Amino acid sequence: MAVVEPSAAARGSSPRTQAAADGEGTAVPRHVAVVMDGNGRWARKRMMPRFFGHKAGVDTLVRTVDTFAARGVEYLTVFAFSSENWKRPSEEVSGLMSLVLVAVAKYLSKLAGDGVRIRIIGDRSQVSDKLRRAWEDAESRTAHNTRITLSVAFNYGGRWDVVQACRQALAQRLAPEQLDEAWLGRHMALAFAPDPDLFIRTGGEMRISNFLLWQAAYAELFFTDCLWPDFGAAEIDAALATYARRDRRFGAIKP
Ligand code: IPE
Ligand code: IPE
Ligand code: MG
Repeated sequence: MAVVEPSAAARGSSPRTQAAADGEGTAVPRHVAVVMDGNGRWARKRMMPRFFGHKAGVDTLVRTVDTFAARGVEYLTVFAFSSENWKRPSEEVSGLMSLVLVAVAKYLSKLAGDGVRIRIIGDRSQVSDKLRRAWEDAESRTAHNTRITLSVAFNYGGRWDVVQACRQALAQRLAPEQLDEAWLGRHMALAFAPDPDLFIRTGGEMRISNFLLWQAAYAELFFTDCLWPDFGAAEIDAALATYARRDRRFGAIKP
């Protein structure tokens, strides 16, 4: 009997997702989600301010996208700024906001030329007009690219995502019986992507920190002590090799 993961099935899973669900061709995850953690500690180890770590983290992200794409990953979703990161000192928050503008100016042409489609997920209502425009520019300039989709979660929280989807249901006056997993899945921030197959967290912590709570329901988890700025091809290959050995059952029993 075919094993089908519920939300992918509800959205109409692609042949490749279905093959993965059947236990065939699981070698490469279609969608990888990454909590890019450890920038501050990386900087501290070098007696540098935390911002230095965040800056190095941006360079690591750009290198990483290319490596994941080269390995055949179609979707890469990275956690850049959480709904809870506003609790940090205001200098760090404003440093991160300006770093985004610098990063877009520095790397957008390269990413666009490399075939990367950029999407931003998260609550844009709380960021500056300048930042919103930079996001829009990044999305529109890369909209037709097909090599890999890079979704940057910025001012994102898994709980926010569920609430914003429910608010859409209320705004559309959906009847209770019309609201199901498929409907919510189509209104969540990552509706354009299959659910993540592999969820990586760098920096040694073993928690989700309010990342893709809904979408990661059946993701394989991989935690590494490697601090985000040090993350590279060797760690990616280790994560992919571990993933390829996992037995995904989605609640069923394999014959
Ligand atoms: C992750 O690195 C980046 C963001 C949350 C913006 P941290 O800044 O959390 O680094 P550590 O965990 O303090 O080392
Ligand atoms: C998670 O890292 C958020 C991002 C990487 C953007 P945090 O450093 O904010 O998570 P906690 O506070 O250790 O759970
Ligand atoms: Mg951290």
